[in-house]
Amino acid sequence: MLRRLHAEQPDSFAFTPDNLAWAEAQITKYPEGRQASAIIPLLWRAQEQEGWLTRPAIEAVADMLNMAYIRALEVASFYFMFQLQPVGSVAHIQVCGTTSCMICGAEDLVAVCQDKIAAKPHRLSADGKFSWEEVECLGSCANAPMAQIGKDYYEDLTAARMGEIIDALGRGEVPTPGPQNGRYAAEPLSGLTTLKEFDSGHTKYNASVQLATDIGDTVKRIDGTEVPLIAPWRDKSANATGKPKGKAKTPRTGVTERQNVPGKVKTETARPTPAKAEPTQGAGTKPATLDAARDGGPDDLKLIKGVGPKLEKLLHSLGFYHFDQVANWSAEELAWVDQNLEGFKGRATRDDWVRQAQALASGEGTEFSQRAKKDGIYNK
Ligand code: FES
Repeated sequence: MLRRLHAEQPDSFAFTPDNLAWAEAQITKYPEGRQASAIIPLLWRAQEQEGWLTRPAIEAVADMLNMAYIRALEVASFYFMFQLQPVGSVAHIQVCGTTSCMICGAEDLVAVCQDKIAAKPHRLSADGKFSWEEVECLGSCANAPMAQIGKDYYEDLTAARMGEIIDALGRGEVPTPGPQNGRYAAEPLSGLTTLKEFDSGHTKYNASVQLATDIGDTVKRIDGTEVPLIAPWRDKSANATGKPKGKAKTPRTGVTERQNVPGKVKTETARPTPAKAEPTQGAGTKPATLDAARDGGPDDLKLIKGVGPKLEKLLHSLGFYHFDQVANWSAEELAWVDQNLEGFKGRATRDDWVRQAQALASGEGTEFSQRAKKDGIYNK
């Protein structure tokens, strides 16, 4: 397939402020002189924002990385994950056409796309809402046939179900991703034959679908405001004395300072790493804390997956003893906590402590807490 820039291009491209902060943070992952290594994440974020990669977007990314435009275009045109033509304003549907899916009915799914969207791939539907293409194996062969729509997988599809999903998306709904035939995950259609004890106490959907449902951004364009930006590697630029190399600057919410970004991005400086559990100033909002556990003693915070004895001690030293405290953290407060988990920065967001703590505070518990209680499993 010939991959070239689309004939019609917008006049300009600009990252949203939050996506720009995210992109600048990505660039700081790489050593001086190697910033071009950030090309793929930056192009990807541009595509997540716009839906497809425009020429101005490719050139803007090249400018940020001090790259020749042709080098950035080489990357964009090489990888099929980059869409070089406009995609549907609601969704771009990627139907897997490799062996398992083909045997199980991928051609029928393609026929639905041809009927409902456009006769040829990479063309917009008449209303501009949809586009489609056939892609190679997406690694969900046990749930064939399947399609990726936006960011999520729709599995165990039939032609009829595919049609319903497209219609629902067209109405502004987002059907639940995952298996569409009642399967929980990739277990036998007739039900589990082994490991049956794990069939109870799990979440409503399998982990991928649960997360997709919780995040709810299946077909959403990403503007960078979705989650706090965490860039723990940036603290490593503090010198041996713990002092910053230059003038400190108040960070954005949940965002550490910018530094050594080439091109049009200003050079800024890093914040010193605080000693022990002394709260870091400036990142997010400090949640309400307690001087000590309430009567009855602290909750067993180790029942939160990702919290081990060391982190539990650190949480106590910061003033957190109970599930309901964690359960009530706002996004701003979560950012503050993440920045103050010395040695574990970003862990609270990574392991979704808030959602876990909500389940624990309600008495419902989580799959991990139930296993931990039953088998004595604890985070190390
Ligand atoms: S063959 Fe379709 S997901 Fe692997």
